[in-house]
Amino acid sequence: MKYGSPVAVLTLLLFLFYPSFSNADDSCIECHRDLTPGIVGDWELSAHAENEIGCNECHGDDHKTAEDVANVGIPTLEVCAECHEDQVGQFRKGKHAIAWAVLHAMPTTHYKPMELISGMKGCGGCHKIGVKSEGEIQALKDAGETGFGIASCDACHTRHLFSAEEARQPQACQTCHMGFDHPQWEMYSTSKHGVRALLV
Ligand code: HEC
Ligand code: HEC
Ligand code: HEC
Ligand code: HEC
Ligand code: HEC
Ligand code: HEC
Repeated sequence: MKYGSPVAVLTLLLFLFYPSFSNADDSCIECHRDLTPGIVGDWELSAHAENEIGCNECHGDDHKTAEDVANVGIPTLEVCAECHEDQVGQFRKGKHAIAWAVLHAMPTTHYKPMELISGMKGCGGCHKIGVKSEGEIQALKDAGETGFGIASCDACHTRHLFSAEEARQPQACQTCHMGFDHPQWEMYSTSKHGVRALLV
């Protein structure tokens, strides 16, 4: 036959176009759709899913079964920087980047009860937005801290939606910028700007 058998042509077409159809690792999504439906659901609504950035792009390929979960990659700023160099560069230059370091730089911190300052439940609940060293990340993992926040970025655009629109809302900052020590939220939300903005 002049153009080869239809089956061969079809196979060739599939071979050529399949990779551009999807780069996402479907096995992650299949298993996690039952296991963590909220995560898969948020990811499906995200700009990442739209652009075929699968789970494996951020978490790697070293974990594929229920038995090898310990090998999974938890993304650091460097992982986000592979595709968002500008935003990571800007973040590193800002004050949020030093938020983790200040906890250890303040002498009075040592006199507070550990429950208030250690891990992610105390000061870390907000200050986890800061950049952490490899050693600090390892220490958090060893302590069984699953509050995460290792990548910092998901403080304002929550995983796994990673939405710019969410981060633009004043409430994205409210979680941390409120209360007795730093009442930015109270000041803003009771000002004319805040009252008008929140009316919508
Ligand atoms: C056969 C099922 C299965 C497949 C396939 C699978 N996972 Fe998992 N995954 C699990 C289980 C089970 C856990 C542990 C859940 C728990 O402890 O609550 C887990 C946990 C995770 C965690 C959280 C780890 C932590 O420390 O909390 C991430 C991230 C993850 N998987 C990503 C992936 C990625 C990326 C892929 C594809 C490369 C993948 N998974 C494929 C079953 C699977
Ligand atoms: C393999 C590439 C890749 C990696 C790694 C990656 N992203 Fe993205 N991300 C994209 C693409 C592609 C888009 C859609 C186009 C754009 O907005 O740049 C996007 C969009 C976004 C957006 C904007 C979404 C919107 O609503 O417009 C945010 C926020 C974001 N990513 C955060 C992150 C964070 C945080 C990490 C690390 C935990 C990360 N990304 C890792 C490729 C990546
Ligand atoms: C996860 C908690 C968290 C979120 C969410 C958060 N911040 Fe912050 N922010 C902090 C911490 C902690 C610091 C103090 C960092 C330092 O100096 O060590 C800070 C510092 C700042 C500063 C510098 C203040 C100063 O006195 O120098 C500004 C400005 C700021 N944040 C704005 C924002 C805005 C705007 C948003 C929302 C888009 C936001 N932050 C969301 C925790 C957060
Ligand atoms: C509710 C969120 C939250 C908690 C919890 C929190 N902080 Fe903060 N912290 C912030 C924010 C937001 C700022 C920056 C805004 C400001 O200074 O008004 C800040 C600023 C600081 C600064 C000044 C940093 C600088 O660069 O000048 C220090 C030091 C600090 N916090 C230490 C602590 C300690 C120690 C704890 C625990 C006892 C703690 N924080 C708990 C949100 C928090
Ligand atoms: C754009 C990067 C990115 C993509 C894509 C991504 N994740 Fe994540 N994932 C994160 C970040 C960041 C965290 C929080 C890690 C931290 O800071 O400790 C996380 C945490 C997790 C966790 C731990 C549980 C938790 O608290 O959220 C699981 C499970 C998980 N991801 C599964 C998945 C699955 C399944 C997919 C695909 C449907 C996926 N992730 C896609 C960045 C990503
Ligand atoms: C303090 C809150 C905050 C943190 C932390 C944060 N972002 Fe954003 N991000 C925003 C806001 C607000 C926007 C929307 C900016 C706009 O509309 O001009 C945004 C927008 C984006 C976008 C869309 C493109 C753009 O630049 O407008 C990407 C991609 C992004 N962020 C990635 C990241 C990454 C990667 C990190 C971690 C290094 C990160 N963000 C940390 C608040 C944050």
